[in-house]
Amino acid sequence: MDQMERMRARHSVRNYLNQPIEEEKRAALQAAIDRVNRDAGLHVQLFTEEPEAFDANAPHYGQFKGCRNYFAMVGPKDADEAIGYYGEQLVLLAQELGLNTCWVALTFKKGKVKVDADKGEKLHVVIALGYGADQGRAHKSKDATELSNLSDASPAWFRRGMEAALLAPTAVNQQKFYFEQKGDRVRARTKLTFYGKMDLGIAKYHFELGAGKENFTWED
Ligand SMILES: Cc1cc2nc3c(=O)[nH]c(=O)nc-3n(C[C@H](O)[C@H](O)[C@H](O)COP(=O)(O)O)c2cc1C
Repeated sequence: MDQMERMRARHSVRNYLNQPIEEEKRAALQAAIDRVNRDAGLHVQLFTEEPEAFDANAPHYGQFKGCRNYFAMVGPKDADEAIGYYGEQLVLLAQELGLNTCWVALTFKKGKVKVDADKGEKLHVVIALGYGADQGRAHKSKDATELSNLSDASPAWFRRGMEAALLAPTAVNQQKFYFEQKGDRVRARTKLTFYGKMDLGIAKYHFELGAGKENFTWED
């Protein structure tokens, strides 16, 4: 499965089976976390068989059922965009390993997550992880022309980038980002909304996978 198919297959899953994640898969996820923490200065931590944050022993918590594994997305207080950009790399790796995920900002018990956070760091969000009882379903999406300056004259790589960006998860499916292409430069912006910067980091990672990093450069 290539990255485009992986992005298409990924949907938020909130209902999990009581099936532990195998040791080799945990090791692969941990290796990716170590890389992300090194490259981006984050402090992401993997928790497995920890039912409290989603009260997995009770029938239902928030919208979640049976979730007992998650990534705790810890990092510097102002690292929202990096949390999105690097967290989505972990999400797509999980998808590749046959696991399901869901970004979670609100509907979990923050006080039950035993994170290790250094001075200046905080727990931004968690990403639920495990074997889904289902694969979720495709979200409703805005049109690419609403979220970018895409037109008939746009290069093929920009079209592919936008196709990938539209598949990105966003908080409450808000899709508040905007991508503007001029020659081989792309500027990505977001409105100042709830988790807008994190959404932007996620969408930028998707865009790069779709467009191909060799075809353009980001402009501030
Ligand atoms: C930053 C962020 C925070 C989110 N927070 C929650 C949450 O607290 N609870 C929840 O059930 N889903 C949460 N979601 C999942 C979104 O609702 C979901 O990604 C969106 O509806 C699109 O659906 P999809 O992920 O299936 O494509 C969050 C997603 C993102 C990106």
